[in-house]
Amino acid sequence: MFLRNKWWVIAESKAIGKKPVAVKRLGEELVLWRDNKGKIVCQSQHCAHRGASLALGKVVDGCIECPYHGFRFAAEGNCTLIPCEGKDARISNKIRLVNYVVREIHDLIWLWWGEEKSNYPPIPWFDELEDNPRRWARGTMSWDIPFTRAIEGLLIDLHHVAFVHHKVAWLSGFSSATLLKPFEVEVKDEIIHSWGELKSQPTNKKKSIFKFEHWLYFPNLALFNFGFAGIKLFVIATPIDQDNTWAYFRYYTPFGNPWISRLISRLFVWIELNLVQPDDYKILTSSKPKESGLRINNFVSADKAIVLWHKMYESKIS
Ligand code: FES
Ligand SMILES: [Fe+2]
Repeated sequence: MFLRNKWWVIAESKAIGKKPVAVKRLGEELVLWRDNKGKIVCQSQHCAHRGASLALGKVVDGCIECPYHGFRFAAEGNCTLIPCEGKDARISNKIRLVNYVVREIHDLIWLWWGEEKSNYPPIPWFDELEDNPRRWARGTMSWDIPFTRAIEGLLIDLHHVAFVHHKVAWLSGFSSATLLKPFEVEVKDEIIHSWGELKSQPTNKKKSIFKFEHWLYFPNLALFNFGFAGIKLFVIATPIDQDNTWAYFRYYTPFGNPWISRLISRLFVWIELNLVQPDDYKILTSSKPKESGLRINNFVSADKAIVLWHKMYESKIS
């Protein structure tokens, strides 16, 4: 079960070029491709004839062609050609693919998961990301961790940094920052906004203070402001299926020169993929039970934002 009547990010735009691409999200096996005008199409991945993966096929004349017997399907899902029956054969309307509503915006592909509507709600986004259009770099990960656990570690947890990310905390001088105080959380519409300070214990000789601000656009978009040179981390997590989660993140570095900004953003992405996320992955795969939830853990005040997330999630999913 996944939250319905939501826009979910399912892929990045640049991953879909001339060839069809197989993607599994929200438990569905999908194929993504572009029609003659470059518009993104998202359909059920398996051919309506005998089930071959259309991601192994190709796009011909604005239709997707199955690699097995060459049946073609239009962007609307209807079958337009059955080669073995000839060009003029009558094609049953039953031979069709399931079409999904998708939008391409902010260099991402968003899938509407829910009821068909005449007016879809706007795509959720953090407006301040628009201020730095060419000053970001990105990374992705696919984890064998359920969405409810992945979301805690990837999107909301703040007091794990000094423990899980020793190397990076040590390099950045925050290895002693284990006290989360003050820590404020406020919920406004669909956004869980939290801010505060992560600092050394009063008894510790080494004093370090790490001020942060964090926004979580429910259920799965997060923005961290580290309070350092305006650098921001934007993270998205989407379920692949019940047991696996796909994550996408961007570092935004708002320096004057876009090339320098992108270079520094790339460096942060490298650090994230090589020094930060492997540590999170190790901890999250070790966590039991595999799914998380309100009644599963013993939460403390520093988990306030996580508790609010689970409350919202559990009230909407049931
Ligand atoms: S399985 Fe696709 S054309 Fe036969
Ligand atoms: Fe982490």
